[in-house]
Amino acid sequence: MTDTINIPTTEPQRQFYFIKEAKKYVDFLSKEKGRALTYFVNTFGCQMNARDSEKIVGILEQIGYKPGDSEESDLVIYNTCTVRENANNKIYGHLGYLSSYKEHNPDMKIALCGCMMQEQSAVDKIKSAHRFVDIIFGTHNIFMIAELIVRSFEEEKMVVEVWDGTDQIVENLPAVRKYPFKSGVNIMYGCNNFCSYCIVPYVRGRERSRKPEDIINEIKQLVADGVVEVMLLGQNVNSYGKNLEHPITFAQLLEQVEQIEGLERIRFMTSHPKDLSDELIMFMKHSKKVCHHFHLPLQSGSTKLLEDMNRHYTKEDYLLLVEKLRKAVPDIAITTDIIVGYPGETEEDFLETMDVVERVKYDSAFTFIYSKRSGTPAAKRDDQITPEVIKNRFDRLLKRVQQLASEKAKALEGKTMDVLVESVNSQNKELVSGRLSNNSIVHFAGNKELIGQIVSVKLVCCKGFYYIGERI
Ligand code: SAH
Ligand code: SF4
Ligand code: F3S
Repeated sequence: MTDTINIPTTEPQRQFYFIKEAKKYVDFLSKEKGRALTYFVNTFGCQMNARDSEKIVGILEQIGYKPGDSEESDLVIYNTCTVRENANNKIYGHLGYLSSYKEHNPDMKIALCGCMMQEQSAVDKIKSAHRFVDIIFGTHNIFMIAELIVRSFEEEKMVVEVWDGTDQIVENLPAVRKYPFKSGVNIMYGCNNFCSYCIVPYVRGRERSRKPEDIINEIKQLVADGVVEVMLLGQNVNSYGKNLEHPITFAQLLEQVEQIEGLERIRFMTSHPKDLSDELIMFMKHSKKVCHHFHLPLQSGSTKLLEDMNRHYTKEDYLLLVEKLRKAVPDIAITTDIIVGYPGETEEDFLETMDVVERVKYDSAFTFIYSKRSGTPAAKRDDQITPEVIKNRFDRLLKRVQQLASEKAKALEGKTMDVLVESVNSQNKELVSGRLSNNSIVHFAGNKELIGQIVSVKLVCCKGFYYIGERI
């Protein structure tokens, strides 16, 4: 049993203590079984969750778990998303077959975390219908995974530890990166915007910025460890730093990141149009490292709907931002998110969205069917759009978005550009795959020695959404 007298009360020391305690249980079981215990983390949702999973894996590896290659592992963790209804359905679907794996391996532990676990209704459903789950935790306390694993070994019942919110940011815990040469870096957590359709502020809590020095130190360490590209992560990076003791702007943070020697590329995600400043656009114009890609979620082209969505910009404001970005960085790729079928959306509103698509000519766009999220203001409305109307609009939008995107991609054919090589191509081992500064994918002849390097490649042939290239 854990000796409660010696447990540190401050973080991260407390978690280092529990990592050691958890390791004792894992070592014991692994001796008994005559093999290493394995873990498998299945991540749903956005880049935030992807980065959270890397932090979870960092801790699991220190506990002594080894990577497993399937969900038939000794510890399976689902890091869940709840942004749209189908994200939740996916989890319930997966849980079905996890229970059958557990029948074959009674020592198996199943843990659920992430955004869906911040919803009481989801936790209640799991408690009653999926009793075989061992651990449930939320988005605010992923740093506690070692402590929760220890509790699960010690208590003979489901361990549920979900926090409503936090103002704590725990620094200096380990993380294991999925890619050796690139990494996500959280610059802020949570969201204060409360767009009327969106569940994220309810499940990720209020906006909290990390201190610039913590961010810079983390990136320096990453670079020393082989990282050449970072993706700065936040739900609304343009409002970074506003709530710090010594406030700084996102552009000022970028300036500091740009100075880090050895770092080659900087990306960021996501920018909210309402807070996109001229200062940032000017910075991008002169930066040598910020990639020529801007993800600028539109959601709708109708000013009326934008107002209802609580987005705080008009169609014209948005188009002006695009114009400024293109003027400052002429070859910038602009991508977006669009929701179709928001309550009350008329054909005219939809045509406004189509008009923005026509004018901006996005390099790519994620198109989503509006999904009712209970607890959000939009869910309460009684003018929800019928599935038939939504389907019709969605299909028209998707078709046009794809046509325009492939025309844009075609325009780069014949050009020579820098590619950061990411992997050996999964279908053809003679090829490697990488990304342009504008985020497009390129495949070309090469070998695994090139992974992590930036090389010059001629874009010989555009295949719609990717290129076949030739190294120069
Ligand atoms: N913070 C980011 C978005 C995070 S969620 C931003 O403001 O841009 C990613 C995308 O999911 C959103 O841009 C939106 O297009 C979509 N989305 C969010 N809630 C949704 C809902 N209820 N139904 C459909 N799509 C939704
Ligand atoms: Fe959701 Fe809006 Fe926050 Fe983005 S800015 S996470 S869409 S509430
Ligand atoms: Fe999903 Fe949570 Fe991201 S709801 S989109 S994983 S912030």
